Amino acid sequence: MFHVTVKDTYDEVSKAAFSVMKSVLYGDHAPVLGLATGSSPVGLYKEMIRDHQENGTSYQDILTFNLDEYIGLPRDHRESYWTFMHVNLFNHIDIPDENVHVPLGCGENPEADCAAYEAELAKHVVDVQVLGIGSDGHIAFNEPGCPFDSVTHLMDLTEQTRRDNARFFDGDINQVPTKAATMGLASIMRAKKIIMIATGSNKADAIRGMMEGPKTVDCPASILQDHPEVYVFLDREAASKLSK
Ligand code: GLP
Repeated sequence: MFHVTVKDTYDEVSKAAFSVMKSVLYGDHAPVLGLATGSSPVGLYKEMIRDHQENGTSYQDILTFNLDEYIGLPRDHRESYWTFMHVNLFNHIDIPDENVHVPLGCGENPEADCAAYEAELAKHVVDVQVLGIGSDGHIAFNEPGCPFDSVTHLMDLTEQTRRDNARFFDGDINQVPTKAATMGLASIMRAKKIIMIATGSNKADAIRGMMEGPKTVDCPASILQDHPEVYVFLDREAASKLSK
C-alpha cells in the first residue's frame, strides 16, 4: 500500500520523510533502522542530525542496517557506502560503532560475507527501511532481473547504474565498481515500514513503474506494490508520470 506525498522542493520532501522517521524514533522501543545511500536520503539524514542536536534524540540503543556496498572498495575509500554513511549521518549522532551494520565489500570471500550479513539481519525486524530508487527501477543494488525472493547477495551493476553513479567517481565510469553486495528484495520486504524518497525528472519513469506498472522483475521496485506500508515522498518532477 503506497501513501504518496508530493512536495515542491527537495527540502520539503526531506522534512516530510522525517515525519515518518520521527514517529519510529519516538515510538515505544529503540528501533532498528534500515538505511540507504545516494543523494535522495541526505536531506532526511540532515533532519535526523538536527533532531538529535536540538531535541537530544539518542541513537545509543538503535541498530542500523545499510542496504548495500560496492565490491572492491576499502571501507575508508571516499566513495564507499561505509564512508558515505559516516560523513552524512553516523559521525553526527551518538550511535555506537557496534550498532552500525554495512555490508562488507572488501572481504576475501564476498559470498560468505553476504550470507553472514543476511544471517545478522534476520535476527532483527527492521522498523523502517529508507529507500531511494535507481533510474532503471532498482532498489538497493537489486538490478532489473533480480528475483523477488532474493536475500543479501552479489549483483553485477548495469551500465546505466554505473553511468548514473559515475558522478561520484570524477565522472569516469571506469572507476565505478562493477559489482555490489546488496540486501535482496525479500530482505527489504521484511521491513515493517518503508520510506521511499525520489526527486527529479530522471526518476519519473522508475516511480511510475514502481507504482503503476506491472509487478515484474524488470522493475525491481514494483515488488513494493505488495508491501503493506510504503510512504513515498516525491517532488513534482519525480511524480510527473503518475496518472493520478
Ligand atoms: C545507488 C544506490 C541506491 C540508490 C540509488 C539512487 O544505486 N545503491 O540505494 O537508491 O543509487 O541514488 P540517488 O539517490 O543518488 O539518485
